[in-house]
Amino acid sequence: MNSEADNYELNNETEKQLEFMRLVNEIVTKKAKEKGRDLTACVVTFGCQMNERDSEKLKGILEKCGYVLTDDETADLVLYNTCTVRENANLRLYGRLGHLSGMKKKDPDKLIGICGCMAQEPDVVEKLEKSYGFTDMIFGTFNVYKLAEILYSRLMSGTRITDIWESNDTFTELLPTKRKYPFKSGVNIMYGCDNFCTFCIVPYVRGREKSRTPEDIIFEIEGLVRDGVREVMLLGQNVNSYGKGLEEHITFAQLLKRIEKIDGLERIRFMTSHPKDLSDELIEVMAGSSKICDHIHLPLQSGSSRILERMNRRYSKEAYLELVDRIRTAIPGVSLTTDIIVGFPGETEEDFEETLDVVRKAGFDSAYTFIYSKRTGTPAAKFEEQTDAAVIKARFERLLEEVKRASAQVTDRFTGKVMPVLVEGINEHDETLVTGRMTNNMLVHFPGGAKLVGEIVDVEITECRGFYYFGELR
Ligand code: SAH
Ligand code: SF4
Ligand code: F3S
Repeated sequence: MNSEADNYELNNETEKQLEFMRLVNEIVTKKAKEKGRDLTACVVTFGCQMNERDSEKLKGILEKCGYVLTDDETADLVLYNTCTVRENANLRLYGRLGHLSGMKKKDPDKLIGICGCMAQEPDVVEKLEKSYGFTDMIFGTFNVYKLAEILYSRLMSGTRITDIWESNDTFTELLPTKRKYPFKSGVNIMYGCDNFCTFCIVPYVRGREKSRTPEDIIFEIEGLVRDGVREVMLLGQNVNSYGKGLEEHITFAQLLKRIEKIDGLERIRFMTSHPKDLSDELIEVMAGSSKICDHIHLPLQSGSSRILERMNRRYSKEAYLELVDRIRTAIPGVSLTTDIIVGFPGETEEDFEETLDVVRKAGFDSAYTFIYSKRTGTPAAKFEEQTDAAVIKARFERLLEEVKRASAQVTDRFTGKVMPVLVEGINEHDETLVTGRMTNNMLVHFPGGAKLVGEIVDVEITECRGFYYFGELR
């Protein structure tokens, strides 16, 4: 049994869940014997890094339950960890489910579960129960760690289990996880969000902001490092407000300083940074650190101060650009990336041009661009000024062009330089190459073999292809 959990002092809830894993394991082992083959489970993940991390926990539990993990949706158990941040995330799930109903008819033993952010929306659950009646388990974001218990109830009762919570105070990092990469890992430092940007559903489906204690976080990272992890990504919707509500007064920058001291840990990343809370203290700590990666994901959302106010982002265009200046002065060569929404209700041509202006001035290495998606229950869903879909589409295309143009001017700065690269795997398209990441999170492809995977090596950057690079081992 390869679990981090074995290194931890187990609390009561953990004990209880481990017991459910043992019980399910007995049933799964018996079924496998009857069928003369292993039972398989597939976890399909939509959405952000929070969901990716949750899926690692779900997979860890399923493995302890006796399932063999696979990426194939013909598996005996399929679990969808869903995202609802934009409408198309929801549509993708319904598309996948439509497909599964046929499989379920052929194999009534097949189990189908839905969890994650969509399941926190009452109208979604109603739709799932009504129109997708073949689902076996529906649970949300707050009780991911109870998968074994929910699965056990489903197996014993033979009926669908729906178990959605409104909040939860138990942090459950003590259960087994199945990491995607042996050498790097996400680490939740906080859950939820209190910012209530008017377009965003996350505070409603992930609940109020809660920080884990620095001791718990460091304990977890030390365990990960013992298990071969060299790079951690500290996860939170707004890491810059870390510490709120904890007994001990601690800022995100101070947490980073403590994490830096962990021997054997080589790289520290974090996301996401809300511009309104990014402190000078953080900039200073980053500037003075050799382990903290020189990359900040700093979502802009819009370049128009008027729209930013309507989004409840609590910074202006000017404040954002000033912040970018301060960061660049203190950390030369830093990579900045961003998120931008086009077509927020009431966005005019002038507002949109302000966004283009920031893209021209900020020097982003890359930007994730989204068309505004109306989310039921958010304040912006009630804003009446709607912009014509064709106009939004045209703006979106113009934004993409501008992002490409602006990033082409900065991303070439690494060509000819030798950079440390953490090798993540064999290149998907060409097996003579390996693929890794520079400290700024940009991808580099270079000639090499499997023995480099998990190593940090020096690579000379020979060519920039926009959002990725080619290089040679030095
Ligand atoms: N906590 C992060 C964002 C998490 S959601 C932050 O504050 O930056 C990831 C991205 O999805 C957001 O940055 C935003 O650009 C986009 N997004 C969120 N809600 C959206 C919506 N209703 N329509 C379009 N894009 C949205
Ligand atoms: Fe959503 Fe804003 Fe919270 Fe980010 S900070 S998760 S955009 S409400
Ligand atoms: Fe999506 Fe939930 Fe993340 S809505 S973006 S998976 S927090």
